[in-house]
Amino acid sequence: MKPSFDSHTNIFKLSNGKVDYLIYINKLGIPVHLYFGKSLKDFNSSDFLKQPDYNYQFYKDNHFETIDHYYETITPVEISTNNSNDLRPSSISIEHGDNNLLDFRFIGFETVDIEQSEEIPHARALSPSDCILKLKLKDIQEEIYLDLYYRLLNDSNVLIRKSEVINKTGKTIYIDKLASATIDVPFQQQELIHFEGSWANERNYIKESLNYGLKMLYSLEGRSGHSENPFFIVKNKETTENFGACYGFNLIYSGNFANELNVNNYNSLRINTGINPTNFHYSLKDEERFLTPEAILTYSSSGLNELSQTNHRFVREHILSKEQREKQNKIVFNSWEGAGMNFNTDSIIDYAKKAKEIGAEIFVLDDGWFSTRNDDQHGLGDWYINENKINLKKVEEEVHKLGMGFGIWIEPECVNIDTKLFKEHPDYALGKRDRVRKFGRNQLVLDFSRKEVFETILNEIKASLKNIKIDYIKYDMNRTLGDIYSYQNPQGEVFHKYVLGVYHFMDCLLKAFPTILFENCSSGGGRFDLGMLYFSPQIWASDETNPMRRLFIQYGTSYGYPLSCISSHVSKAYGSYQTKANVAFFGTYGYEMDPRTLSQEEIQLLAKYTNFYHAVHHEMINEGTFYRLLSPFETKFASFLCVNKEKTKALFLYHSFFKQVNACQYIKLEGLNPDFEYEINGEKFSGSYLMNVGLNFSQFKEADTDSLLFLKKVEEE
Ligand code: DGJ
Repeated sequence: MKPSFDSHTNIFKLSNGKVDYLIYINKLGIPVHLYFGKSLKDFNSSDFLKQPDYNYQFYKDNHFETIDHYYETITPVEISTNNSNDLRPSSISIEHGDNNLLDFRFIGFETVDIEQSEEIPHARALSPSDCILKLKLKDIQEEIYLDLYYRLLNDSNVLIRKSEVINKTGKTIYIDKLASATIDVPFQQQELIHFEGSWANERNYIKESLNYGLKMLYSLEGRSGHSENPFFIVKNKETTENFGACYGFNLIYSGNFANELNVNNYNSLRINTGINPTNFHYSLKDEERFLTPEAILTYSSSGLNELSQTNHRFVREHILSKEQREKQNKIVFNSWEGAGMNFNTDSIIDYAKKAKEIGAEIFVLDDGWFSTRNDDQHGLGDWYINENKINLKKVEEEVHKLGMGFGIWIEPECVNIDTKLFKEHPDYALGKRDRVRKFGRNQLVLDFSRKEVFETILNEIKASLKNIKIDYIKYDMNRTLGDIYSYQNPQGEVFHKYVLGVYHFMDCLLKAFPTILFENCSSGGGRFDLGMLYFSPQIWASDETNPMRRLFIQYGTSYGYPLSCISSHVSKAYGSYQTKANVAFFGTYGYEMDPRTLSQEEIQLLAKYTNFYHAVHHEMINEGTFYRLLSPFETKFASFLCVNKEKTKALFLYHSFFKQVNACQYIKLEGLNPDFEYEINGEKFSGSYLMNVGLNFSQFKEADTDSLLFLKKVEEE
């Protein structure tokens, strides 16, 4: 559907029948934000356009003018410049000549999207019937152009936004800030939900009231990071999982981001989302353009579960590549928790044999197979196989003979200083040679903003693995970026060009190993973002494999990302195997332990879980609909379920974190067909009973016990 433009009211309307987005071009040519939400049957434009009763006054060359009802720091706008009278955090700041004064005005519009380059990940497999608008703006004086892109998906409550600056000034200009999207809405005591964390403690759900002042959710880690996920939600106070309006925001970006939420003294809530402006000073020569990452705005009028489901569908259909998605969700056995870097050819072959017995489909040799890498202080950056330690070819052949795929770990972006690579090219690492350079996990970061640096690593990896048949790669990155100094690129461009370098590297890697399943990881889940999912359909969500903690991590992650992207392994440590498997089922299931220490009973048990995973995973986890029921962040329980498309099957999990003596507890299910009858462990229940009364959990419970239930529609005779 094309957007409409009413030339009497000057209002653009993007609509997909379910959601409307309205923009008013005011008398000055400034795009004013009017509305984003449930489709309006009709609206009274004169009421809509009643802006605060202030006047905009300006003076230039002896000319004085007044424009009614526009006040820069109150009127909701689509874009706001630095160094103007709009005192809210700006969307854009550009240094040109000796100043950064800017004032963008509407000069036209088109209904086409930009031709996307492969330089930066973006939504894909989009429909030509999406509602697309490009607003063309120009500074009132300088030849600086700004295009604002809007794409409302035709079949889903998703709006994709991005901005592009075009320099036609004849000289170089410098972008200091450019948000992918800005949106101003009246402040109505909304709440913010965001996902903070740390290593082994990722994506904790935080709910807080928005109040006067500036709230900034950000990363300066050089990756999206553990500390804050780029995904966040703004909701009405009364909105719950299954009721009320809410908005989701995410970025297709894996580097430093800034999400600014500002409530000002005039009751305006501004939201800016985009690349973090800190240390960002990007030069644009004459005729050059700069395109931001895409911001993904989602809307639900029926609560957070629906919002998450919209995001899940969007990721599956428009972020993951078709090729990777088809290879996804094989059961991986990873050597890390069992062996660390302490292994040899025979021990790893023994691992693989046992992994096969429990049903693994891909055997992965993690860190420690190359150069002098026997601990994390050595060898990283030299990618030749350590033949003294492991006969990789033999391992690969044995694994294949066992009928499994063979996978390998790499960490291309970092370097230990004892390596040949660092000794020969000390300038390949970020930081200045004559200054202190600080380590993280005993390693420095390679300057991936430079092509020759990442090409050197890529070629080495390709050369050493050229005779090995690789079916899977786990791509890791184990520290934050620091000492931001490049010997080649301007320093204000390093953070962004670094991320582009990582994307370029991943693209080349996938071309070099076209048949692999690609998994991401960054010290556990330090890069769980849409940019990474564009390349790899699954991400190791956390180094925490304790299921009681994993429940929190996976629950938090589920708000923005589908379960099938959450890589989750059963390990040897912590709790019962049943609980570990129950939690891992609600993700991409796998194993990570020393399998040689498993008893025959344990092997049989795990093999049984493997079969169960195969029976339920595709229909319910991969393709089904996920509902959160009880939050571990807000109750002493965790509960959720996945329902298949036909609503004939569901997989439900309930976990109690504390000991409970006969307290009354019913858990109402969601997403079933009320008219169907379901069988659970031999008992029959109607869908309407399960959804309105619920499953009865009013019995004695030990702490940390759980129930995994499989629901199946009773077929009529
Ligand atoms: C951090 C990852 O999260 C682990 O799974 C493992 O791959 C180690 N790195 C290896 O160094």
